Amino acid sequence: MSLNLQRIAYYSLASQPEAALIMLAEILGVSDRNNVRDSLTGALLVSRGRFFQVLEGAAQDLDRTLARIAADPRHHSLNVVLRVDVNRRMFGQWGMVAARIAPSQQPEIDAIIDRCHDDPAAAIKAARDLLEHQIAA
Ligand SMILES: Cc1cc2nc3c(=O)[nH]c(=O)nc-3n(C[C@H](O)[C@H](O)[C@H](O)COP(=O)(O)O)c2cc1C
Repeated sequence: MSLNLQRIAYYSLASQPEAALIMLAEILGVSDRNNVRDSLTGALLVSRGRFFQVLEGAAQDLDRTLARIAADPRHHSLNVVLRVDVNRRMFGQWGMVAARIAPSQQPEIDAIIDRCHDDPAAAIKAARDLLEHQIAA
């Protein structure tokens, strides 16, 4: 099952930044269904029209899903910032989870997305910590 397990992360820009939050609800519904089917786990953060998504699973499932995502006109300028082989999942409990945008969390989400180019591993860990606190709260 864990054969070929990889983690990828990408950054992209919403085509309609003002609608990014509304789109998030639609995206999550479809993603959750597909990702559970494909044994993918991960998280999606959005802030100020910027997306940052982490996905984990078998390499071939990641490739297929990433190809669909990259062709989605709701965003552009997709840039994969990390792709690594891993032994275990960091987002194992979530088919797809999103940071809810409480105004108080906006700076934290912004900071994670700012960081994803220079230090993607740290950004991914910060995203996981943020989501764990959010779910626990
Ligand atoms: C920022 C962003 C993230 C997305 N993440 C996922 C995802 O994790 N899994 C997924 O199946 N689709 C995701 N999508 C949606 C895909 O682009 C595509 O619309 C969907 O996979 C089509 O699914 P369907 O063929 O079952 O209708 C995402 C789209 C955007 C814009």
